[in-house]
Amino acid sequence: MFFTLGMRNADLGSGDFQLLRGMDYLFGDKSLDFPEAVIIVNIFDTATMKKSEIIQKKGSDFMEIKAAEKLNHFPVYLFDKLDADKAVVESKGVDVISLGQGDPDEGTPPEIVAELSRAASDSKNHHYPSFKGIPEFLKAIAAFYKENFDVELDPGPEILSLVGSKGGMGRLPLALVNPGEVILCPDPCYPAYMPGMILAGAEIRYMPLKKEHDFLPDFGKIPEDIARRARLMYLNYPNNPIGATATPEFFAEAIEFARKYEIIIAHDAPYNMMVFDKEKPLSFLQIPGAKDVGVEFHSMSKLFNMTGWRCSFVSGNRQVIAALSKLISNVDMGIFRPIQFAAIKALQNGTTFINKMNKLYQERRDVVVKGLRELGWEVDLPKASFFVWLPVPEKGRESIPFALEILNKTGVLLTPGRGFGTYGEGYLRIALTVSSERLKEVIRRLRDAGYVYKGKA
Ligand SMILES: Cc1ncc(COP(=O)(O)O)c(C=O)c1O
Repeated sequence: MFFTLGMRNADLGSGDFQLLRGMDYLFGDKSLDFPEAVIIVNIFDTATMKKSEIIQKKGSDFMEIKAAEKLNHFPVYLFDKLDADKAVVESKGVDVISLGQGDPDEGTPPEIVAELSRAASDSKNHHYPSFKGIPEFLKAIAAFYKENFDVELDPGPEILSLVGSKGGMGRLPLALVNPGEVILCPDPCYPAYMPGMILAGAEIRYMPLKKEHDFLPDFGKIPEDIARRARLMYLNYPNNPIGATATPEFFAEAIEFARKYEIIIAHDAPYNMMVFDKEKPLSFLQIPGAKDVGVEFHSMSKLFNMTGWRCSFVSGNRQVIAALSKLISNVDMGIFRPIQFAAIKALQNGTTFINKMNKLYQERRDVVVKGLRELGWEVDLPKASFFVWLPVPEKGRESIPFALEILNKTGVLLTPGRGFGTYGEGYLRIALTVSSERLKEVIRRLRDAGYVYKGKA
């Protein structure tokens, strides 16, 4: 059975349903209603780009397990899918260069690892950790915000540690949103916002991020009735996947809009100190009134090369923090104490390391942008994050088949923009998480495979 999902039209002006082309890439082909006697597993082989079916007969002792209905609305997680695609190509002996997931390639700094090791040797740290975070970690977060953004945070009620901001943000709607209430979500966006919105039974309304509007949502285009029913709004700057930045004026506008319609803002900011050229780090919480309407999610993952450590935090509005904390303490545990001690070390010496990494990412950005432009690709220079967001260079081609073709022909893995939402179609994302040498090799491979557009109008 071919499965396609019907979703609301991403254009906020219209409530029409549309079939989202290309979503079978992420949703897979599924048998939603199993026929009496068989289970059909549909397989999409990315190497041959062919679909096939495995039919498994039900025996007399066969017990069919059906997943919960809400799970049918979940896609395969984008990066799981990309990993599978990569594995298929690697199994043929190809040296794949992955510019897919934004996972820093350099290791965690040794002094942070050493602090983990010290704290892990102390048996006092082997117990269940506190849910909210140890006071020393919460204080270090407050000091980091004061030093870098001049933002005052009360480490008690205004900060909560999280086992990864992905999980924290995914759970936020369950703590704040009732079924049928509206969540405003950027499109394209980091895919991990989706599960929480679905599980909460929210009505998802997408806010298109378009180049002509500097990849910022246009609040003027949100219909009044939708704004009135909205309860939560996700924002994310510097943005994943686009690398776009926000301005203080934009955040001020968002706060005014949120106040008017009583909407909670969840600003997702794991890249807010990853800036290039003359761009200054900016926190949503710096803007007057931010704490009245929202919170900011932050993470040790990207700035300190600690993605695998699962150590993040949220700060700002105390009512939002209290609701999320209540939920999390019921369903989860806190962060392993030695990891929190290591994170304190990272935050205390943070700026020097962050500046060093920014220099490295900026060099890589320049290598890739220069190289692609020489091939005739149209690429803007991102001012922040470690992502480059660029249009598919062949007009009219969709991003998923184009990215798969490049993977198969060159062994270079790019993320198709469609995986981030409807308005990601027509774009590709590059993560600058491989060395400059490897990026030069990417350019060589693309040139050799004929992805050259110079002089072709
Ligand atoms: C925009 C954005 N938010 C959050 C995360 C997740 O961060 P964490 O490692 O804290 O879960 C990512 C990771 O890719 C991201 O890009």
